[in-house]
Amino acid sequence: MVDTTAQANSLPRHVAVIMDGNGRWARERGEDRIFGHAHGVESVRSVVRAAGELGVEYLTLYAFSTENWSRPQAEINALMELLVESLAGEVDELARKGVRLRSTGALDSLPDACRAALRDVEERTAHCTGLTLILALSYSGRWELTEAVRSIVRAGTPEVDITEETVRAHMGLPDVPDPELLIRTSGEQRLSNFLLWQLAYAELHFTTVMWPDFREDHFRAAVHEFRGRERRFGRTGDQLRQAQAGAESPAP
Ligand code: FPP
Repeated sequence: MVDTTAQANSLPRHVAVIMDGNGRWARERGEDRIFGHAHGVESVRSVVRAAGELGVEYLTLYAFSTENWSRPQAEINALMELLVESLAGEVDELARKGVRLRSTGALDSLPDACRAALRDVEERTAHCTGLTLILALSYSGRWELTEAVRSIVRAGTPEVDITEETVRAHMGLPDVPDPELLIRTSGEQRLSNFLLWQLAYAELHFTTVMWPDFREDHFRAAVHEFRGRERRFGRTGDQLRQAQAGAESPAP
């Protein structure tokens, strides 16, 4: 079938993903939750490939939230081990594909092996100029905003000088543009404390596909759907069409 959906938007520069449903996917197969996480790694590979091929510049994955620390210790340990193994196993391929790895979150609370593996891959891919893959680890939006407030206070910035730009400049990765598209798998429709500041204008894409089943085609379909959406940024439809006719791009 020919898809005639109008493509109103250009490609998103930054896509953020809440990888959800690993536990349920495993339970449906009579397996433990770790089995689902392990299969989720293949989905990560697939999405990194698709994002790189499409020309998306930044891909942020919610790999471990602040709230995830309350999971059973065995699951936390397995997730950390999976992360270390995956980073060590993928570093050459990431570098070969020009993918740069970065991370955001309370990284000090991660186990030493995990921090060391992250540091290693970040250093070995620092020169890469293709996709930037950002892992959000021990991360939550409220944590990041609280850290930003602390940092502004430490800097002694006078109250009258504090603007949105000040807050942005004190966030974890101030040089990274806000995601235009958020994808969440597994049918849940929540932000779950992810990138609360940065997602202010993002388009939200919810799919019932469980993360371990999510593949390149699902990612491409989400990007395609995003490109057909009308993004108004608070303006009326008429104002938006006038701006488009004048070839202006909507202000964020
Ligand atoms: C949410 O599913 C998923 C996570 C908390 C972990 C995601 C981690 C991976 C996919 C593996 C490693 C990642 C990288 C970057 C190598 P859930 O456990 O909450 O599922 P449920 O809602 O069905 O219980």
